[in-house]
Amino acid sequence: MTVNLVIGTQWGDEGKGKVVDYYSKDAYYVVRFQGGNNAGHTIKVDKEVYKLHTIPSGVIQGKIGVIGNGVVLDPEILIKEIDELKKRNINPKLLISDRTHIIMPYHKILDGAEEKYLKEKKIGTTKRGIGPCYSDKVSRNGIRTCDLINKESLRKKLDLIIPIKKRIFEAYNIDIKLDKKKILKTYAEFGGRIKKYTAQTHIELNRAIKQNKNILLEGAQGTMLDVDYGTYPYATSSHTISGGSCIGTGISPKKINEVIGVVKAYTTRVGEGPLPTELFDKYGKHLQEKGHEFGTTTSRPRRCGWLDLVVVNHSCIISGVTKIALTKLDVLDGLDKIKVCTKYDIDGKKIDYFPSDITDVKKCKPVYEELDVWEKIDESVSSFSHLPKQAQKYIKFIEKKVGVPIKLVSIGPGRNETIKL
Ligand code: GDP
Ligand code: IMO
Ligand code: MG
Repeated sequence: MTVNLVIGTQWGDEGKGKVVDYYSKDAYYVVRFQGGNNAGHTIKVDKEVYKLHTIPSGVIQGKIGVIGNGVVLDPEILIKEIDELKKRNINPKLLISDRTHIIMPYHKILDGAEEKYLKEKKIGTTKRGIGPCYSDKVSRNGIRTCDLINKESLRKKLDLIIPIKKRIFEAYNIDIKLDKKKILKTYAEFGGRIKKYTAQTHIELNRAIKQNKNILLEGAQGTMLDVDYGTYPYATSSHTISGGSCIGTGISPKKINEVIGVVKAYTTRVGEGPLPTELFDKYGKHLQEKGHEFGTTTSRPRRCGWLDLVVVNHSCIISGVTKIALTKLDVLDGLDKIKVCTKYDIDGKKIDYFPSDITDVKKCKPVYEELDVWEKIDESVSSFSHLPKQAQKYIKFIEKKVGVPIKLVSIGPGRNETIKL
């Protein structure tokens, strides 16, 4: 029995979908534990490309996907995703925690309104209602899956919540009417559709552990978007680090075996906020174009920069990463220069940790080490020794600087373009 965890170590989009698909082979349950449909996880199998936002990536391998209590769930999007997968001959097996909080229409409207209000100080959210939904959870105004499948309970909650939201709408000058009757009808119908999937998933997961079944936990976003350890306030509203997986599933930390940190061979970020190694030159353009760096969820271009090992170290320490999956190494093909940031210079002082204060982060100038370049990694390479010598050195350099072994190297989006070390 193993409980393994996959998390992003940067600003999301590290290739978690592909890595989860790879490790799903051996899993019985594949579990999302935080975030919502702000995530976009891509899995490429031969010519088929799947982009999942809510459903755990393991369903593509035919595994049971579990949506844990820590997730915020947009039932409309979930139902769409289920229907789309069915059209593609995948009938996803799912379990949804009855404690999962529901993203309501007013959450999505407020996400947009808050961003508009912030103007140039906006976070650059995905506008999926994630922040407002988590805010309601913490302030105890949330609606959970168990309310959605019980119309009376949903009615009572809406009676309480809708008048409050109306007042907030007024404060933001939002000219949209919240129709309680319509919301009740629509969301009770959603509840009817998803009822068959709901369960006390923490009981199911702990039973599976007792029965020696393997569980794979699928993180969304990345450490630098964590609400505590990311570039706050330019962060998401959940705990993306390993600790979040225990809260979001009801699995004890003592049960987790491997923590697999996904590291993209360079750095990207969507949305606002500091990105110390960001490039605005031909190298940034190369990474953006060759890496097809456009958001899976919002199609926004991702900002690109050199690999930042201060960030990766920060992540590996906080989450206790035991092995690294290095992705998108092929994107560095053909460059005439490769740099990796190993420290920051802040007002002339060298530091190797990530500052807490955003004003300090903005002052950080990356200190780089330059590494050897290579021409091209052949798609068919299946072992470390057949990689270009310089690419091997790049891998060894990261391992040495971070002190965590790299056990998987991804050299293309496809399922087979993966090297096990
Ligand atoms: P996630 O959010 O961490 O699951 O990552 P996304 O799916 O949003 O973005 C990663 C993108 O890179 C997807 O389009 C993947 O198909 C693609 N990808 C993953 N691994 C590799 C790789 O090793 N090389 C290349 N070129 N693309 C990759
Ligand atoms: P995956 O799982 C990259 C970013 C948004 C924004 C910030 C807050 O695919 O890696 P939110 O809508 O969560 O309130 O937005 O977080 N963001 C992501 N960036 N990958 C993601 O998910 C992201 N999910 C949220 O762009 O900067
Ligand atoms: Mg993504």
